[in-house]
Amino acid sequence: MEIIEAKNYDEMSQKAAQLILTKVKQTPSLVLGLATGRTPVGTYLHLVKDYQEHQTSYRHVHTVNLDEYVGLGKENPTSYHTYMKEHLFNHIDIPNHQTHLPNGMATDLQGECQIYDELIENLGGIDLQILGIGVNGHIGFNEPGTSFSSTTNVVELTPSTRGKNACYFNNLSEVPSDAVTMGISTIMKSKQIVLLVSGMQKAHILYKLLSEPINEQIPASILKQHDNVIIIADNEALAVIRHNGSAAKTPR
Ligand code: F6R
Repeated sequence: MEIIEAKNYDEMSQKAAQLILTKVKQTPSLVLGLATGRTPVGTYLHLVKDYQEHQTSYRHVHTVNLDEYVGLGKENPTSYHTYMKEHLFNHIDIPNHQTHLPNGMATDLQGECQIYDELIENLGGIDLQILGIGVNGHIGFNEPGTSFSSTTNVVELTPSTRGKNACYFNNLSEVPSDAVTMGISTIMKSKQIVLLVSGMQKAHILYKLLSEPINEQIPASILKQHDNVIIIADNEALAVIRHNGSAAKTPR
């Protein structure tokens, strides 16, 4: 597990964008796993800026997103489909049919989960997966306690996750109670994973992830078992690690 330190959010975003761009240039048919939320917004901004300035092409890239809320249609302004269009897809040359997110409106949600895992498999697996982390250690919407062997599944969101995401909705009651999320084992099959961590509020969980043994109460701790993970963290996110001593000293 490599840790790349960044001064601040913008530097973290630039480094992440640079890493993605290098991969896209090396492998034009890259299968790129993407996240939503606050953390990757700056990364997408840098990718869009690069596209405007250098026209790096995504014509052969496929993207697969981590998750989508149950009950929100593609056109719903608070869906992750809309988020991805607004932050990235509308501004680059990726064909729409090569961008994939779970369908939160599927009538057969269990079937949809299976279809999503099959889709990823048929694409040849994820080459590079971008992740954020929840303050409780979740990755995707895999909340503490989720089995490490989970595949794509329907999850009930915890009150803390719903509360945190309420800022994107008119009020808490509008935040869907469930989501479809790529499972932990699905994420772990990615050939490379980049975890982005920014801000004071993530400093404690980043420390726990690095210092505590791998366990299902900290879903992201499983990343220590993957042999190609890069964490890009900014100074604020590294604060607790620095205060408690080097992350390098911490056990797997
Ligand atoms: C988003 C996702 C989540 C977020 C996490 C952090 O697709 O799967 O795991 O990455 O909740 O969210 P932010 O970046 O908003 O702090």
